[in-house]
Amino acid sequence: MDRGLDARYKAFCFDDVPSNCSNSLEELGNLFEAEKTNNVLKIMKRLVVGISGASGVIYGIRLLEVLRGKIETHLVITEQAKQTLSLETDLTVGAVESLASFVHSDKDLSSPLASGSFITQGMIIVPCSIKTLSAVANSYGQALIARAADVNLKERRRVVLVVRETPLHLGHIRLMAQVTEMGGVVLPPVPAFYHKPKSVTDIIDHTVGKILDLFDIQHKLFRRWQEDEPDLS
Ligand SMILES: Cc1cc2nc3c(=O)[nH]c(=O)nc-3n(C[C@H](O)[C@H](O)[C@H](O)COP(=O)(O)O)c2cc1C
Repeated sequence: MDRGLDARYKAFCFDDVPSNCSNSLEELGNLFEAEKTNNVLKIMKRLVVGISGASGVIYGIRLLEVLRGKIETHLVITEQAKQTLSLETDLTVGAVESLASFVHSDKDLSSPLASGSFITQGMIIVPCSIKTLSAVANSYGQALIARAADVNLKERRRVVLVVRETPLHLGHIRLMAQVTEMGGVVLPPVPAFYHKPKSVTDIIDHTVGKILDLFDIQHKLFRRWQEDEPDLS
């Protein structure tokens, strides 16, 4: 719901509280970093960002750059992603981690992210390797990245997997179907050309913008179809 608020916040009016909600807005306000004015509770948006070892680590970096200062981000980078990072970019792991609000080790299963009681607006794994896709599809929570996705799915929150592999065999497609049946969104980094990209950055920003759309986060990362087109009617 758009109440003209800063993108950092999700707003609830007192009228919006569902009758079956066990927490009052006051209680929710105590759980979150929240501001309460004029019967509107503004709750800080919090997203989990996982970066796994598929090609395209730059998509995860760009997402963190765009969210920086706007949304509270909790970052998990897999060990393999750290290697991909050094192979595909000139950045250090520390530089990428500094883009996030909080960093969690993929090995730390006692992290708050491993529990559904840690309230978030959802999770994005970008890029998502087939291995991590498989772990999420099978609730194989041995690593924090897969466990965090699993708890967000069980809490019925938005989980977006930017799966990168090509071509795909039937096993990969079945895993994507499984995640979709569980409520997740599979968003492969497939470029569009209707916005006339002129650079690799334009292509990356298109995928990052599609991710933000799924979380109702406003952006101007790409020109939408027929946006700013002359009205010919
Ligand atoms: C340079 C490089 C590129 C890779 N690209 C992909 C890819 O696009 N998709 C994929 O599923 N795996 C890819 N892999 C393999 C994964 O890194 C590997 O399966 C790894 O075990 C994934 O672990 P993680 O999901 O824990 O990060 C790549 C590996 C390297 C070194």
